[in-house]
Formats: sequence, structure tokens, C-alpha cells
Amino acid sequence: MRILGIETSCDETAASLVEDGRKILSNAFSSSEALHQKYGGIVPEVAARRQLEVIIPVIHEALEEANRSWHIADSRSAKTIRHKPYAVLDALAVTVGPGLIGSLLVGVETAKALALAWDLPLVPVNHLVGHIYAAWLDSPRTPQFPLVALVVSGGHTDLVFMEGHGKIKWLGGTRDDAAGEAFDKVARILGGPYPGGPWIGKISKMKNKKFPPEADQPLAEKMGKGESVRFPRPLMEEDNFDFSFSGLKTAVLSEVSKIPLSALRTQHLALAFEFQEAAVEVLVEKTLRAAAKYRVRDIIVAGGVSANSRLRQMLNAKCQMLNYNLFIPPLELCTDNAPYIAAAAYYNFKPRPLEKIKADPSLEVGDPP
Ligand code: KG4
Ligand code: ZN
Repeated sequence: MRILGIETSCDETAASLVEDGRKILSNAFSSSEALHQKYGGIVPEVAARRQLEVIIPVIHEALEEANRSWHIADSRSAKTIRHKPYAVLDALAVTVGPGLIGSLLVGVETAKALALAWDLPLVPVNHLVGHIYAAWLDSPRTPQFPLVALVVSGGHTDLVFMEGHGKIKWLGGTRDDAAGEAFDKVARILGGPYPGGPWIGKISKMKNKKFPPEADQPLAEKMGKGESVRFPRPLMEEDNFDFSFSGLKTAVLSEVSKIPLSALRTQHLALAFEFQEAAVEVLVEKTLRAAAKYRVRDIIVAGGVSANSRLRQMLNAKCQMLNYNLFIPPLELCTDNAPYIAAAAYYNFKPRPLEKIKADPSLEVGDPP
């Protein structure tokens, strides 16, 4: 079964053709990230306008890309997809939420129009569940149920237990900021760009570089003596699967306020590193605790923050030690994308009448789309 997935929940416009929920035949996208950088965060109006401009070219590109790969393997399919895309597709899938309402509407209404014109079924997909299905794509093994999944993105942090496709039990989530949001806010405090996650990850790796003499301020002094600031591990000792990241952000802010501006540039490496250690440790610890409590062997970690190399490293090491099968997407499938929207639709194939499909910005991970 071939499904064309469409994703427009935030600042990415993406379309992808996926076969049988696992094989990516094409993956086209366009991002308005650069347009938001000067504002230090996403401007919803700007994102939605950009979605409108690029949605049709992106869908066209996804079909053309499939056409190019088929051209070599099967010239009949190639010809068909160029002239009658509907003849090689079995269904369409679209993200209906959560996300920004203006952005979501562009994808949802475009998908409905195409489904009507091409007479194809349309499957609504929950974006957060979509992230989890990155684990099924282009992978030699597939996850086995029951399993535990952690979704860590810019807007959400959710830990869920899955007994099967569509059987999702929410275990816990953030009580305040999402993990990605915390990375973004800490980056902003430290003078970094938007989005902040990749930047924090990058500069954390530079932490062991020598501090120049002018950085001889409280933090650098401590680090010089082999000590370092240790941020709290919020809610780590509590017997639940909840997270809290806003206190960590405040702890970074308080540490920054002690450093004179002239020394900030040299010391933000250490602060970024320590923040990342704290955030990652809590995410890993709670996920492993959920895996133990629910007696699963398979763990999925997905969403933008799963691109973080320290998180990947710590998860890999612990899962290997404790004998869990860890599924963490390749970097290009961690952040917002369309292949996993198509994959989620394949494994949860519930097309709905077009008039019932609506954008829902506040959908939660356990809600049916
Ligand atoms: O899943 P995603 O692309 O969009 C949402 O659904 O929100 O996640 C975006 C979030 C941003 O907050 C970004 O800073 C974070 O993922 N992120 C990272 C990394 N790459 C992206 N956070 C930490 N380390 C990274 N390497
Ligand atoms: Zn996302």
C-alpha cells in the first residue's frame, strides 16, 4: 500500500510517499526556519503564509522524487505517477494536530482537496504518534509490542506505553516546558540562535576546551579546580513519569546572572554542558524506569530532541547494558517530517469522511485524531 503523507504542523512543509509503512519512496520538504531566526522563535503568521506558498510545490516534488526512483525500477509506474498520481497511490495521510492552527489548516485543507479530486481515502494522523512511527521506517528490524515510547519535541514531552498499534496509554509528561522548549530557552539565555537544541548540543561538546584567563569568574574557578556547577535533576527521584524543565532554565539564568557579560561567551560552554547533562539524565532515567515497570524489552525515543547526541549516547549505553532494544530514528527523521505521518497512517489505517477531518491544535498524544 502506498500512502502520501503530508505534514504542516509547525514551520516545516513536508510530503512523502511511503510503501507499506516502512519503505520511503520520496521525502520532500521546505522549512521556514530561517525566516523566524531573527525573532528568536516561530512567528505563527509567517509560518502559515509560507506553508501556503510551498505546499503544492512540495507535494509535487514528493511525487517527482518517487517518479525518479521508479523510472529506473519500473517505467510504467513512473509514467503513471507523472500523469495520474492517484493511480499509484492508495491513500493520503495528513497531520491534524497538535501544532499551530494556521499551519495545520494549510495541510489539512490541501489534503482534503486532493482526496476529493483524486477519490482517495484520507487518514488523519496525530503528529505526536507520527513521531513514534519513525521507528518503523527503513529499518531492518521493527519494534515489538508491548513497548515504551518517549516523544521529546519542541512543544511536547510525553512518555507512553503501547500494547499495539493505536493502543496508547499515557504514562506522564512535562508539567511545564517541553524538553525542546527548554533547550531553546536556555540557548536564548546563553546568546545562541533559534532553534537552540542543535546549538546546545554542539557547544556542549566544546566544554573541555581551555577557558581563556578572562573567564576566571566563579564558574570557571570551580571548573578549574575540577568542580563544576551541577544543576538539579527535576522530579528524578519522584515515583511518577512526569518531567519539569522550567526550573532548570531558571537555574541556568541564575548562574548566568553571576557572570559578567565579558566572560559569558567563554562560560556558556560549561553552562550548556551542565544543562544538557541534567535534562538528558532525567529523560533517560524516567524512560528506563517506565520500561522496567511495564516489563517491556523495546524502547522508542522520537521527536526533535532525539537528535541530541548526548541523549543518544546515554540511551545507547544504558539500553545495551540493560538489554533493551532501542529504536531511535536516524537524524533526518527526528525532527518534523512526512514519512512517519504516512507510516503512522499505514499501521493505524482509519480513513475518515472528509467533513469529519479537522485541524486540532491542542490534540494530546493519547487522543484519536
Ligand atoms: O519534533 P520537532 O522537530 O518539532 C516539534 O514537533 O516541536 O522538535 C523541535 C525541537 C526544538 O525545540 C529543537 O531545539 C529540538 O527539537 N532539537 C534538539 C536538537 N535538534 C532539535 N534538541 C536538542 N538537541 C538537538 N540536537
Ligand atoms: Zn514534531
